Amino acid sequence: MPTLALTGWFNAARLLEETGGLKINTTLAQKVVLGEWTHLGRLGLIAVLVAVVLAVLLRRVSDRVAAGFTVTYANGRRVRGRPEATLLEISRAYGVPHISICGGRMRCFTCRTQVLSGLATLAPPGAAESTVLARVGAGSDVRLACQIRPGADLVVKPLLEAGHTTIRQTPGDDAYRWGVERPVTVMFVDLRGFTALSEGRLPYDVVFIL
Ligand code: FES
Repeated sequence: MPTLALTGWFNAARLLEETGGLKINTTLAQKVVLGEWTHLGRLGLIAVLVAVVLAVLLRRVSDRVAAGFTVTYANGRRVRGRPEATLLEISRAYGVPHISICGGRMRCFTCRTQVLSGLATLAPPGAAESTVLARVGAGSDVRLACQIRPGADLVVKPLLEAGHTTIRQTPGDDAYRWGVERPVTVMFVDLRGFTALSEGRLPYDVVFIL
């Protein structure tokens, strides 16, 4: 941001000077210094961009090469897992469809997943996850993908994914389709004896009375 801001400032100043809108009293030596700074700024920006691209590439390569584990989905897809990541994060990293309406905040339970193999390698569910799983009547081999952090080979089957073509193609952040979480206040107002009041009258009369 500072580099971009500085570049913008230089360009604006140069433009003003060129169009005669402003006379900037700079000596030749100052211009040379400014030119060098601009050049350095550009080089810095390019270096940052290259570093970011390299970091992303390195991360991807290390994910695949590092001593990790394999997550196999019920449809046969296999991906390399990254230690410390949740199963949901692993699915997302590889573009595997995995419904997670609340975005991994343990509110929707749509990420529930049956662990077909490797269940014993997972840490047992915490109190909150256990409560949730009990509430939805999940079997002992079902876990929330946003809560488990695999550390060994796993075979899983996201329970709300199989067989749903519409849901699969819809991104989880599609607010129109999935709705959004929002704090709201709801006021419900009723009139005592309203049914008795309204059933024997014409709608117009009821509106008039109201
Ligand atoms: S994504 Fe909502 S509970 Fe896991």
